[in-house]
Amino acid sequence: MATYKLVIVRHGESTWNNENRFCGWFDADLNDKGLMEAKRGAVALKDAGFKFDVCYTSVLKRAIRTLWIVLDEIDQMWLPVVRTWRLNERHYGGLIGLNKSETAAKHGEAQVKIWRRSFDVPPPPMESDHAYFKAIAQDRRYKDLKAEELPKSESLKDTIARALPFWNDHIAPQIRAGKRVLIAAHGNSLRGIVKHLEGMSDADIMELNLPTGIPIVYELDANLKPTGPRQFLGDEETVKAAMAAVAAQGKAK
Ligand code: 3PG
Repeated sequence: MATYKLVIVRHGESTWNNENRFCGWFDADLNDKGLMEAKRGAVALKDAGFKFDVCYTSVLKRAIRTLWIVLDEIDQMWLPVVRTWRLNERHYGGLIGLNKSETAAKHGEAQVKIWRRSFDVPPPPMESDHAYFKAIAQDRRYKDLKAEELPKSESLKDTIARALPFWNDHIAPQIRAGKRVLIAAHGNSLRGIVKHLEGMSDADIMELNLPTGIPIVYELDANLKPTGPRQFLGDEETVKAAMAAVAAQGKAK
């Protein structure tokens, strides 16, 4: 018997998704397609009559704006929103800013798949002479992070290690208290949450690509275990195509 409902949504396409660049903690905004995807996801939530009590997002504008679009569409802009760096995208380290196809042409598709989808191999670190070091590592939104919390690059395992404490300490207690939770975040921070919820193996999570802008609904039991498969609020063909498109970003052209 399902006790709770949880909705998670990956932000719509960003300017850097569109340019096929590793984005990570770079604060790229949604592009026109991403705005449209967020709106389409929002309409699906509205049509299904979703009501929420509390929302969580990252400190990156592509996720925040996606959340705004959803809250506007469902006319619940008054809801409390918690923003945390712990739900940020995985930190792509030295790869941030590089084109994924060009990187595959240079280092091989297999290496790029390891960097993108392996569970515990982090990309090369972001050094202080990296073009985006200042924009990321020295941004004041991260000034309260302890030195060891500010990543130089993260594997999915590292991403989960910083996202899960937030899930356990903040989100899970709210769900258990009966609050209807909406999370707007990123491909990899959400893959971490999906892995945790579904108890997926390190190997299985490698094959999961989350589509942009399509809300995912979970029904959870009292132990916060899903009572059925994740449900996408989108038609099957669109979901499949969107997942395949994400997987294909790492192919050399
Ligand atoms: C990025 O940070 O580049 C994307 O948002 C997620 O990238 P990935 O699908 O290559 O992990």
